[in-house]
Amino acid sequence: MDTHLSDVWFQLTDLQVSHGSGAVVTTTDGIDYLDLTSGIGVVNTGHCHPRVVEAIREQAGRFLHAQVNCYRHDQLEPLAERLAQITPDGIDRFFISNSGAEATEAAVKLAKQSTGRPHTVVFQGSFHGRTHMTMAMTTSKAIYRAGHAPLPSGVFVAPFPYTFLTGEDEDQAVDRCLKEFDLLLKTQTSPDEVACVMIEPVLGEGGYVPAPARFLHGLLERCRAHGILFVADEVQTGFGRTGELFAIEHAELQPDVLVMAKGIASGFPVSAIGASAEIMSRWTQGSHGGTYGGNPMGCAAALATIEVMTEPGFLDHAAAVGARFRAGLDVLAERHRCLAENRNLGAMLATEIVDPEGCSDAGRTGAILQYLLHEERTIAMNCGPFGSTLRWIPPLVIADEQIDDALAALDRAVSATA
Ligand SMILES: Cc1ncc(COP(=O)(O)O)c(C=O)c1O
Repeated sequence: MDTHLSDVWFQLTDLQVSHGSGAVVTTTDGIDYLDLTSGIGVVNTGHCHPRVVEAIREQAGRFLHAQVNCYRHDQLEPLAERLAQITPDGIDRFFISNSGAEATEAAVKLAKQSTGRPHTVVFQGSFHGRTHMTMAMTTSKAIYRAGHAPLPSGVFVAPFPYTFLTGEDEDQAVDRCLKEFDLLLKTQTSPDEVACVMIEPVLGEGGYVPAPARFLHGLLERCRAHGILFVADEVQTGFGRTGELFAIEHAELQPDVLVMAKGIASGFPVSAIGASAEIMSRWTQGSHGGTYGGNPMGCAAALATIEVMTEPGFLDHAAAVGARFRAGLDVLAERHRCLAENRNLGAMLATEIVDPEGCSDAGRTGAILQYLLHEERTIAMNCGPFGSTLRWIPPLVIADEQIDDALAALDRAVSATA
């Protein structure tokens, strides 16, 4: 097809779409597809949730842009106040930006200035973004970094307990990874040089692997002991995805800095970082900012999204979506040996695909995705270091029948690609 668009974007499908509603997107030819990607974990409230659309429409008639350095529009403080109510205790000051990468990078800048320290520790398999600093913090796939060197220094990578890959049980993996973390602080950077430790509570792009609560608490303990800020990157895990507003809530843990994006505004480009007033007060005024961050339409979309998500039943439904999907995947795994492991935290689900020898099978995974797309009109995607992990990220408003349809489609796709 003739195009004036860059080829740099990886293309999951060649669909040309014109609109979406709930869990369905419709092509320009009028064909419906079930969207199990949620636009990579963004439209948690479903495509075009009517209340979010209405809030954007109403706001568009009053202000498209009201630059935060120049003046404060009337959606800004209400959004910050609402975020303070829904985020973990102790987090009550917010900086608002546009994308996930901008927010993870902002969290590092905040951590550097508020601690006066230079270094950042991240985890093997993390994805934190595509700007130069966040590329340096990303180890989910080599392609993101290759050819982009030199990357910023000061980033150290600790192991993440991905038991399917290492063959350990959870306790063994957690013990080993905490020991390796301690060793890193003895051998690669001393703790008093480390501004922050940043972790995804569920490794996202790196394989949809929930971090065990004991691992998160072990890291937090070490951060507290050394005055290091604990940063939770909830860009993909946040806003209801795991059945709680934030995945960190499952571990009952309070991060020093919380990073939010994707689901925060149901598709309008908004991201935010939150921290205590004390930490934020050490971020030199004027040293960071952005032209569009805190855009009034984005704030209106985020406020409407939060209202939808905090209504009784929304998060229960999200948890039920995860449970129903997982139960169905487990039934399929009994029938198909290539579905080697299912795991999930709420509606953030993964299935590892292996060949008859038990090795990660990217070819079969790709074939399953193609079958789902072309024969079943179902859009799904993969993740993980070998591309052999199917990831399921349905809009949280998906109906039970749509989940059952997706599972039946997967059953046929696995049989057809054997
Ligand atoms: C955990 C996590 N952090 C950061 C990012 C970067 O977000 P963005 O693509 O909006 O820059 C992503 C994107 O997938 C992500 O999943």
